[in-house]
Amino acid sequence: METELTTTTTPAPTAPAEHFNIDISAIRENARKDVLEGAHTSSYQGDVEEVIELLNHALATELVCVLRYKMHYFTAVGLNSESIASEFAIHAQDEQEHADRIAARIVQLGGKPDFSPQGLAERSHSDYVACASLEEMIRENLIAERIAIDTYREMIRYIGDKDPTTRRMLEDILAKEEEHADELADWSKRQ
Ligand SMILES: [Fe+2]
Ligand SMILES: [Fe+2]
Repeated sequence: METELTTTTTPAPTAPAEHFNIDISAIRENARKDVLEGAHTSSYQGDVEEVIELLNHALATELVCVLRYKMHYFTAVGLNSESIASEFAIHAQDEQEHADRIAARIVQLGGKPDFSPQGLAERSHSDYVACASLEEMIRENLIAERIAIDTYREMIRYIGDKDPTTRRMLEDILAKEEEHADELADWSKRQ
């Protein structure tokens, strides 16, 4: 007697499909409320006051970095000082650009960017240190970049998916600070 062999295949389990589900009439209604809050709409999931506060600390840090790099650009002396000083000037420009982006985002979120020189050093995460030698300058800026890297990483982790626009901006800035730290570490090794 012939036996027919049949194989049964069990379909692989599939994850339940996630559907895009929005209540457009609620969104339309909310968009009409508090219109002057601009980009800060009701779906904002973060604590906007806290995010603005964090951004103001980052703004102060960037401004102090601009001042430190400028100071070092104008006062760098010694062997290789010209090429390194011109890199300090480029970093100062990058930090100014970061400060501008952060300030613009604070305004978008309905806050006030704090540019007050009063308390600037205390609001900043890194220190303003005037150095006597090129070696010290490179080292101080490297330390400041490493502080910026750690604080931006922590801010990105804290913001997560609550505010994608702020997170993307911080990720861009973080990538630039990592480049800066890498360059400074290279120069430091060559000194
Ligand atoms: Fe920066
Ligand atoms: Fe930097």
